[in-house]
Amino acid sequence: MKTLHLTNTQPDIDIASAILRDGGLVAMPTETVYGLAANALDSEAVRRIFEAKGRPMDNPLIVHVADYADIERLRLVSEIPEKATLLAQAFWPGPLTIIMPKGDVIPDEVSAGLSTVAIRIPSHPDAQNLLKTSGLALAAPSANTSGKPSPTTAQHVIDDMEGRIEAVIDGGSCSVGVESTVITLATEPPRILRPGLITREEIEAVIGAIEVDHAVLHQLENNEKASSPGMKYKHYAPRTRVVLLRGSDARYITYMNRLYARDPHIAALCYDEDKPQLDMPCITIGGMDDEKAQAQALFDALRAVDDMKDVHTVYAHCPEATGVGMALYNRLIRAAAFEVIDLPEKRIIGLTGQTGAGKSEAAKLLSESGFPVVSADEAARLAVSDSEVKAMLCAAFGDVLLPDGSLNRQLVAKIAFSTPENTETLNHITHPKIREIMLKQARECEHDTVIFDASQLFEAYEDLFCCRIVGILADPTLRKERIMRRDGLNREEAERRMSAQLSERFFIDHCDDILYNNGSADAFLNDVRQYAERWCADERKI
Ligand code: TXA
Ligand code: MG
Repeated sequence: MKTLHLTNTQPDIDIASAILRDGGLVAMPTETVYGLAANALDSEAVRRIFEAKGRPMDNPLIVHVADYADIERLRLVSEIPEKATLLAQAFWPGPLTIIMPKGDVIPDEVSAGLSTVAIRIPSHPDAQNLLKTSGLALAAPSANTSGKPSPTTAQHVIDDMEGRIEAVIDGGSCSVGVESTVITLATEPPRILRPGLITREEIEAVIGAIEVDHAVLHQLENNEKASSPGMKYKHYAPRTRVVLLRGSDARYITYMNRLYARDPHIAALCYDEDKPQLDMPCITIGGMDDEKAQAQALFDALRAVDDMKDVHTVYAHCPEATGVGMALYNRLIRAAAFEVIDLPEKRIIGLTGQTGAGKSEAAKLLSESGFPVVSADEAARLAVSDSEVKAMLCAAFGDVLLPDGSLNRQLVAKIAFSTPENTETLNHITHPKIREIMLKQARECEHDTVIFDASQLFEAYEDLFCCRIVGILADPTLRKERIMRRDGLNREEAERRMSAQLSERFFIDHCDDILYNNGSADAFLNDVRQYAERWCADERKI
């Protein structure tokens, strides 16, 4: 099929109307996103919408009309609840969809067999013109391939739908950029099923208290039923992995720049203000405080993600889920398949270094002097008593439990350190849990500043949460002697252990500060104390 590219002039709108009256499909601009329209009362035409989009048949469509009188005239609903009238006066025409008891004329394809129907009066002049010219009620979901970000330009529609629909009307970029707020009046109190530009607060000012459906901000459990079928499907997802980072601007910037220093295949989806501070490629979605601009830019940004070269993951700066931010959050968290990383607000100081350099002595001194120290070794001990971790270790290394169900740590160490692959497997299983425990302890700490004592700070990606990282280094000959003495190793064993670690160069490149421990123990510990006082004792914001 050849898809006609139409303008929004009257002769072209006339062509589009004729196509719709003939049972064809036309993509039309609305103020929110482009919709894929068909005659809502023609079940054959509606069925073709599902085919063109690859949309599951159990996901109902929104019926669009030109004005309020059409709802009764066309008998689209069996009853107009009083609250619908109030909402209509306040917000129609505009980006609000109201779910009401359906009229008999609504085909099952539109309502997906539900007893309700979703109605919206769009404000976009081209949508209005098409509705009026055709005289039809138009069923129209967003005009994207099911699962992809909704289209906010005619080009987005063409990218997804060329050759599958009769026509697309180019009405420029959509001004709102995210789909309408969907509210159901079938429950009491009424409930938001999908957030949009019209916020919960604005609606409550008109009809009183409403609820926000659990699935708006959370992932549905396997056995949970969706109030709005659309919410159970994967949505808005680029092919590239998207992860949300939830935290302040400063923590976001730190996390991103530290990660990029080690992995050049990441990118940022961020606010305008973040960009100058970030080292990696960025897609911006507008000013930090301009949620409307962010909403307008969001879907175009999500589509642009897949155009980035050599990028495997995009980390998005997570918006606050209030006001219009709720709509942004709702779309982004689905684009991220609910993968969210929380960045603690605490100032975390990373203390790391090469084996035998003196990190443990430094940590011991700091802990004894009353600084809050979170130990990775201690977190590791807790991690391996976690039942999930134990199960994963058994799956990887065979039965490594003692008769009392605890981990046979000697056996695990023996297997894990026998080959580099096994070591990696062990780390892959334990590091996330260790990191989680350390971050939890940091969050629960009463101090503003916390020290992470971790020899594998970088390997376990704990460094990404650190505002400041100090590396303890020492001359290799000194280190070798120290570990031979301390752990009773021969020269060869000591050398093997040293060479298994990150290089001195790595520490110099990735730490913010380096302390050398090549002289007297007293002088070194004095340096450590001064360092900690400098970053922990004052209220300096880092
Ligand atoms: O802004 C918009 O609403 C755009 C433009 C084109 O108007 N349309 C749109 O449609 O986003 P669609 O189909 O992509 O999303 C409609 C949402 C889906 O999540 C669907 O499950 C829900 O509304 N929905 C429709 N009828 C429903 C009903 N009777 N009960 C519960 N949810 C319903
Ligand atoms: Mg959609």
